[in-house]
Amino acid sequence: MINSKHVLLIVAGGIAAYKALDLIRLLRQNYMDVKCVLTQSGSEFITPLSIQTLSQNEVYQDLFSLTQNHKIEHIFLTREADLIVVYPATANLIAKTALGLADDLASTLLLAVPSSTPIIIAPAMNVEMWENSTTQNHIQTLKKKNILIAGPDKGIMACEEYGYGRLIQPKTIMCLINKTLFPMQPLKGKKALVTAGPTYEPIDPIRFIGNYSSGRQGYAIAESLHKAGAEVTLVSGPVHLPSPENINLIKVTTAQEMLQACFTNLPVNIAVMTAAVSDWRIKNVAQQKIKKEKNALPPVLEMDFNPDILACIAQNSNERPDLVIGFAAETQNHLKYAEDKRKNKKCDWIVVNDVKPDTNIMGGTENEVTIISSSGMEHLKKAGKKEISHLLTLKIIKFFATINKG
Ligand code: CTP
Repeated sequence: MINSKHVLLIVAGGIAAYKALDLIRLLRQNYMDVKCVLTQSGSEFITPLSIQTLSQNEVYQDLFSLTQNHKIEHIFLTREADLIVVYPATANLIAKTALGLADDLASTLLLAVPSSTPIIIAPAMNVEMWENSTTQNHIQTLKKKNILIAGPDKGIMACEEYGYGRLIQPKTIMCLINKTLFPMQPLKGKKALVTAGPTYEPIDPIRFIGNYSSGRQGYAIAESLHKAGAEVTLVSGPVHLPSPENINLIKVTTAQEMLQACFTNLPVNIAVMTAAVSDWRIKNVAQQKIKKEKNALPPVLEMDFNPDILACIAQNSNERPDLVIGFAAETQNHLKYAEDKRKNKKCDWIVVNDVKPDTNIMGGTENEVTIISSSGMEHLKKAGKKEISHLLTLKIIKFFATINKG
């Protein structure tokens, strides 16, 4: 596990408990190790098996059992955790935590948490229960202990009443978890430009030349740089991916549009060019759909070179970014070809991947890359594109830490 942040998730009862499964998935996607405690009432709504499958860890339910290594569970779990999250938290568990009652595993470990370990509690209950002065007094007690109360949201509840009491969404608490665990944003103040996806070069109003790039690697890098604090502009060719939040997304179609969007957004500190830019475009794009003439040969398409965006940015002496990173997609001799590209285009690093069709990398969700720089090569073993992005971001952070020292 790259990040090696350990999150202890307590899932209490309530109709919203199913959302905890989504949160576990998000935590795992953010490279966190998740251990879960399921309360008796929580197990009425979701099963330990679902949690175990998603978290890939044992589920803890019993106060009087020891871990596999014969450690006392409620002590061991709290000592190992970087963060404790209660999602959802019932009025009952909130009351027990405020009063210091410890009659099951969840409440006991909430009492045993070292004061330096942050706790986030996300309440979910009926509006009257939430607004009841007893609950509100307990919430004040927890806030005084520096426990973060996340939510609840306002809306229609399962009981069809309206008001505050709905569990906050998994994505919202995930942002809060990231902010709590990573308060330092090492790339804060830095601007980044990322290109992603394919470009489509029109032949006529309905046909184009394109490629299989999904844009996933570029989008993941943009998100990872954003999480590290950078202000990110993502120039994207046509892809089928959701727009990332808090990132300046500019959608383009052709290589020439991509070049223009990139230059409009200079200067930046970091440029990461993952796009699979079409090397050629059609010289004379037909204004009307090209018809197939009976007994005639297929049309011969005359092509022109597209600009090399990476080379233009790396060799732009006025506003050259501090760090220019190219990607290379190769089906053979990938290390040699990539090193040649790095030198010819004059970028600082080139991230090369072997995109032979049987690797399923182009268009797929995983990648296996080698990062080549003037000081050598670093191979990253096959992993999800998000995990690869995270490792690349760590390398970028190290680069800026070094030049800032120098
Ligand atoms: N690139 C670019 N503009 C182009 C072509 C490529 O910015 N017109 C960038 C890509 O975004 C990538 C790097 O150059 O960062 C290498 O792209 P790749 O397609 O692997 O190589 P090409 O330069 O196109 O060379 P070839 O097709 O011969 O492998």
